Amino acid sequence: MRKNIVAGNWKMNKTLQEGVALAKELNEALAADKPNCDVVICTPFIHLASVTPIVDSAVIGVGAENCADKVSGAYTGEVSAEMVASTGAQYVILGHSERRSYYGETVEILEEKVKLALANNLTPIFCIGEVLEERQAEKQNEVVAAQLASVFTLSAEDFSKIILAYEPVWAIGTGLTATPEQAQDIHAYIRSLIAEKYGNEVADNCSILYGGSCKPSNAKELFAKPDVDGGLIGGAALKVADFKGIIDAFK
Ligand code: PGA
Repeated sequence: MRKNIVAGNWKMNKTLQEGVALAKELNEALAADKPNCDVVICTPFIHLASVTPIVDSAVIGVGAENCADKVSGAYTGEVSAEMVASTGAQYVILGHSERRSYYGETVEILEEKVKLALANNLTPIFCIGEVLEERQAEKQNEVVAAQLASVFTLSAEDFSKIILAYEPVWAIGTGLTATPEQAQDIHAYIRSLIAEKYGNEVADNCSILYGGSCKPSNAKELFAKPDVDGGLIGGAALKVADFKGIIDAFK
């Protein structure tokens, strides 16, 4: 059966010292009270090598928030999937809407990034989701179907290694959350597309996370939906009490 996962996305927050302190605090909280789901924290690149050795890898996975679409070489300022993996990190968020909209990441670029992540044994947390105008025009299904093109060229074996995150852009950092019914509808649709492409077994085993203003007060209702397998958490991942409150939605 597919895994339930709560993953944090720190975005561009926390100095190295603050990030290390946050990871330590989370590690202690989850050592004292074991989670009933997989837990992942995705941090800025510079935190990875410091954070991986201080968390219990049996309880907390560590990931990056991005990686390059090139293997190596003269790409000033970029960080490759191989470099991410060399820190001990096991995950990488790819296709976050902030990367798509502010840094021009296309379906093709993301296809390269996903392949490089997998080639370096990183688990991609691949994000899809529509903007407000697309939701208002009821185009959300078309939008996510088009975004899935980046991962629908994978073999069934490789596709089975990825995690998906549905994040409606209008809900990210806005305090607006998709209703559990809205999340369930589109998650079920996404799973039906996977089933069409790769068959029922692959679709049933794929974890699809919800992201967008997820917090302790709404996580339980969202995660109770049959096709919502956890969350990708931004703002609420920056405070241990909030993040743990979301993790505890699986208790
Ligand atoms: P948010 O961000 O929880 O702050 O809305 C979620 C995300 O962008 O991954």
